[in-house]
Amino acid sequence: MIDLAKRKLSFNSISVHAGKKRKDQYGSHLPPIYQTSTFVFDDVEQGSLAFAGENEAHIYSRLGNPTVEYLERAICELETYGILGADIYQGMAFGSGMAAITTGIISVATGGHVIAQDALYGCTSQFLFEEAPKMGISTSFVDTSDIFLLEMELKKYPETKLVYIESIANPTMAISDIEAISELAHDHGALVLVDNTFASPYHIQPLTLGADIVAHSTTKYLGGHGSVIGGALVLKKEMVEDCHLNTYRKNLGGISGPMDAWLLVNGLKTLALRMRQHSENAMKVAQSLESHHSVKKVWYPGLESHPQHDLASQIMSNGFGGVLSFELKGGFKAGKELMNKVELCTLAVSLGTVDTLIQHPASMTHSVMNEELRLKAGITDGLVRLAVGIEDAEDIIYDLQQALG
Ligand SMILES: Cc1ncc(COP(=O)(O)O)c(C=O)c1O
Repeated sequence: MIDLAKRKLSFNSISVHAGKKRKDQYGSHLPPIYQTSTFVFDDVEQGSLAFAGENEAHIYSRLGNPTVEYLERAICELETYGILGADIYQGMAFGSGMAAITTGIISVATGGHVIAQDALYGCTSQFLFEEAPKMGISTSFVDTSDIFLLEMELKKYPETKLVYIESIANPTMAISDIEAISELAHDHGALVLVDNTFASPYHIQPLTLGADIVAHSTTKYLGGHGSVIGGALVLKKEMVEDCHLNTYRKNLGGISGPMDAWLLVNGLKTLALRMRQHSENAMKVAQSLESHHSVKKVWYPGLESHPQHDLASQIMSNGFGGVLSFELKGGFKAGKELMNKVELCTLAVSLGTVDTLIQHPASMTHSVMNEELRLKAGITDGLVRLAVGIEDAEDIIYDLQQALG
């Protein structure tokens, strides 16, 4: 078996092979699914030593499962691709993106302050706005694509423990300068957590830009087929220890099941291939929408009209991702008509599936967000989000054009 640590493989090859460790005892080509809740001890001594952390035996699947660990190694390898000495990092799988995000925030920021990006996935925003304060975590929201606003906020809240951003914001597609933010946050004693769901490690690797923790809804591009709900964190092992993340995950219980982990491992194998197509298609669709007479504005980091296009070109590799959002001149009424008329595109929330999904953030994914915050962040009532699939771009464009009339 090829030693991945010694041979510098391309990202594409890593995504096909990530997570492999040793040959399975029966020579299974794919990782076996250890569909079991508990594991058998040889004797009481071995069981006691396992509980004391003095041997590597598995105990109980809420504490660890070999199929889930395979996935954790794979995600860690992808997010730390290109980092020398990446074995100081660890991947942690969760039962959903929200389980990963909330467990991460609670373990890092309890008793302190979070500065969060103004535009965030609706449930993340709702958690920080409504639930986190009850756990002793206060949050202020700021447009993190403006580094000066962030600096002012860090000065205003010296007790800040965490700066929370999305590498590409859902659904405004705003891009933040992860490198500058990480430097600034570290100068103020705060950690940086980046939700990298929209970009995936194919386009952006926040850890290489100085971020401390990467979060994922693996439900999306990492899984790739819309068959799993899952989440992940990748961070340094010493931070896992310092923040008691294993204990939080074990006791909050938001773990991944082995079958879901297996589906995700298979999804990862085609990550690079799929992302290339998502991204190429999204660029073509964004250009065609931008030139359509009934479209008011398109937000896609690959377009020169995007406010952070230059920054996106610097920090993104291999293209600009598969999601875009747009507003029609006819506002929500026209957007609603379009979403009801599409035939190839599917009206559904989520993203990162091989087929194209369209949805209305204000009444769907971001409806749980505080309304004032939502509008201030630019998530207007007329905004439509399109997660471009890997069909042929011409067919997606044709469908949108026929729906636009
Ligand atoms: C950017 C982002 N982060 C997190 C989540 C939450 O992930 P999950 O639905 O897997 O809990 C989502 C879901 O849409 C998302 O878009």
